[in-house]
Amino acid sequence: MKRDRIVLMGFMGCGKTSVAKALAGQIDSDFIDLDSFITERCGKSPAELIQQNGEQAFREIETSALREVLTLDDAQVIALGGGAWTIEENRALVESHGYLAVWLDAPFELCWSRIQSGDTVRPLAPDREAAQALYQSRRQTYELASLKLAVDEPDSPESIARRILQSA
Ligand code: S3P
Repeated sequence: MKRDRIVLMGFMGCGKTSVAKALAGQIDSDFIDLDSFITERCGKSPAELIQQNGEQAFREIETSALREVLTLDDAQVIALGGGAWTIEENRALVESHGYLAVWLDAPFELCWSRIQSGDTVRPLAPDREAAQALYQSRRQTYELASLKLAVDEPDSPESIARRILQSA
């Protein structure tokens, strides 16, 4: 592996957090989940922040949390929330700190089934139509990742992590 610091991104439900955990385990490192970091810092989850103060206010918190996490410099693996990569300032931050951005490109149906069945509240994906429209509209910025990995239902987090290590 040439790049040893990795940011995982992709749509809600694509598996960022579980792959980050598996990847960190394989390289014997720590990982940071940006949404969890925000929840600890603010005492509120991203969903609560969005519901209470709107998406724009959440994005500002998210960017400052990302800046802090990147500056801490103690995690080789970071999992972003699904919208973080769509913000140009965030992409520039990831790049300037030397992280390799990996897009976990999962089919919409897989993301949607996880969004529906999971415990996490996702105010930006309230129904199938809204989620699918967001999924489509974000693909062009997700394409700006350094590495794109197609992932699907049968792939375990461990096998996806191994593929990242082979390609990074
Ligand atoms: C969001 C995704 C969520 C969370 C917030 C906004 C998005 O994270 O950051 O609800 O804009 O796609 P996950 O991708 O981990 O669900």
